[in-house]
Amino acid sequence: MVETVKLGRRAALGVLAGAAMLVSVPATAQQRITVGVSWSNFQEERWKTDEAAIKSALERLGANYISADAQSNPQKQLADIEGLITRGAKALIVLAQDSQAIQPAIARAQAEGIPVLGYDRLIEVPGVFYLTFDNREVGRQQAAAVLAQKPQGNYVFIKGSSSDPNADFLHAGQLDVLRPHIQAGRIRVVGEQYTDRWLPENAQRNMEQILTANQNRVDAVVASNDGTAGGSIAALAAQGLVGVPVSGQDGDHAALNRIARGQQTVSVWKDARELGAKAAEIAVLMARGTRPDQVPGAQKWAEGARKVSMDAIFLKPVAITRDNLNLVIDAGWVTRDVVCRGAPANGPAVCR
Ligand code: GAL
Repeated sequence: MVETVKLGRRAALGVLAGAAMLVSVPATAQQRITVGVSWSNFQEERWKTDEAAIKSALERLGANYISADAQSNPQKQLADIEGLITRGAKALIVLAQDSQAIQPAIARAQAEGIPVLGYDRLIEVPGVFYLTFDNREVGRQQAAAVLAQKPQGNYVFIKGSSSDPNADFLHAGQLDVLRPHIQAGRIRVVGEQYTDRWLPENAQRNMEQILTANQNRVDAVVASNDGTAGGSIAALAAQGLVGVPVSGQDGDHAALNRIARGQQTVSVWKDARELGAKAAEIAVLMARGTRPDQVPGAQKWAEGARKVSMDAIFLKPVAITRDNLNLVIDAGWVTRDVVCRGAPANGPAVCR
């Protein structure tokens, strides 16, 4: 009798476990969410890092990753988003190539009830979540580092792509720091250009023209990312002007190495791993029904060109100069070998 009861119990437990499995397997399969990511391009080194972070966070959260690369083409990006929707995306993460041209695709997603996260770059449409670093602060950090090297003289602004709202946020931050010095006459702005599609070769060409127009009398360059910094430095180097202070942004490995070699002053580092992981978490929350204004940590923000009130999260950037290159190395962003390759004997402490 006792034996029967025992067996019965075991059998019952087995049945229960089996039932639980039967129930749980299809349930998980049903709940598995697909997140679609629309990339503008992979031109800058950082986007591969962003992508890896999004992918691994989605995996951790039990969600699927699907993606498309617009290859810098705003029209292709519209078709890409259409495709991601057709392929079953339940939330979209969008790095917009062109903040205006993207809007019909956002409208389409919203019409289907698919939440959208504007990734790194503003998509100024009500209901879109905005996740980025504090871009105006990036601009301030760029300008402050260059100003510390060159408190007066002829300054050049090599700005980003005019179709990316970040270009103007960065420039606004640069002016926050430099305006008083410009007004006091210590700094003269001798050139200012947007860089079409953020292409280093366009930055280089613009910088060459500015150098020619000023008989090479340029004392400092506030460049808005590491790609445009590289283009500017190539133009300076061709005129024997290596060592003129130049800013950048993104913590590109080549830029960190230029800092160690004394060719670039600062790269404002935005840990793309952090941004990617956060984006994945928010996308999954929104796909499961969390409204943008309920996303933990979100704040209201309305400083876009059209003053649309957005729910947003801003991560904090860090200025990397020769004095704190160890930060990116310690964070596992880049190896010391890569940073220090070719650094001179009097280079940064971390390379000695
Ligand atoms: C900006 C971004 C920068 C830089 C640039 C070039 O929008 O904030 O970090 O990568 O695009 O794509």
